[in-house]
Amino acid sequence: MANLTWLKKYNLLIFDEIDSTNSEALRLACVCRIGNFVVWARSQTNGRGRQGSVWESGRGNLFLSILLNENIPISKQPQMSFVTALAAFDLIYSLAKQASVFPDIKLKWPNDILVNGKKISGILLESLSFKDNASLVVGIGVNVKTTPDNVNQAITSLADEGVSNVELEEVINNFMLNFEKYCSIWQQSGFIEIRKLWLKKAAKLNEVISVDDGKDKIAGIFKDIDFSGGIRLRAADGKIHSLPAGQVFFGDDNNE
Ligand code: BTN
Repeated sequence: MANLTWLKKYNLLIFDEIDSTNSEALRLACVCRIGNFVVWARSQTNGRGRQGSVWESGRGNLFLSILLNENIPISKQPQMSFVTALAAFDLIYSLAKQASVFPDIKLKWPNDILVNGKKISGILLESLSFKDNASLVVGIGVNVKTTPDNVNQAITSLADEGVSNVELEEVINNFMLNFEKYCSIWQQSGFIEIRKLWLKKAAKLNEVISVDDGKDKIAGIFKDIDFSGGIRLRAADGKIHSLPAGQVFFGDDNNE
């Protein structure tokens, strides 16, 4: 019997098709300021990713948004993407293990999950603030059964990595239990512990990467993340750059 304890804390809304689960969660936040929600859709007609990108959302993959009506201070909201990434890491690890597959799983700053060097999952945080209330929407997409094409970077899916016959209901339940686990670590031990756990699983730590912060592309050794979740690079001149947001490129090439 599956452990469904997370359903005590979240109202679950299920759609066969919707524009975007993040949009639905934001619409919900406008009318419902109490209680937490999980919005799941089997497909999205207008799924979106970070920096205005399109998130291909055909049936078979996971499209989920969590509305947290918990008044998380704006300064702490970015920390939730690290909490979510850890939950997604454990999800992929355990589904792969069940299928006797042991791929290389890494977390790429700020909020991607890579399997064997290819993106399998992305996280999109969006928030809505009222006078005395802040609602946070945590959206996650995981390529379960299909690997979208027309995407300008190396991507994969669980099926392409040899993990098939996975039911989406099982994926959601597994993910939500992990999400709850890391939320309580975050609440009890703070971001210091989440940061430590995330860094253990980080892609390219202590290696040369470059980060496009929208203004410049800065190359350097990826040293760690700061306490607001920004990335810290040590450039060739020894200078430390702390970048709150941006897009990471590995090594000298321009592949994301
Ligand atoms: C990214 O890597 O760019 C983030 C992708 C986030 C996609 C998910 S799918 C569920 C939720 N609804 C959306 O429209 N986007 C997020």
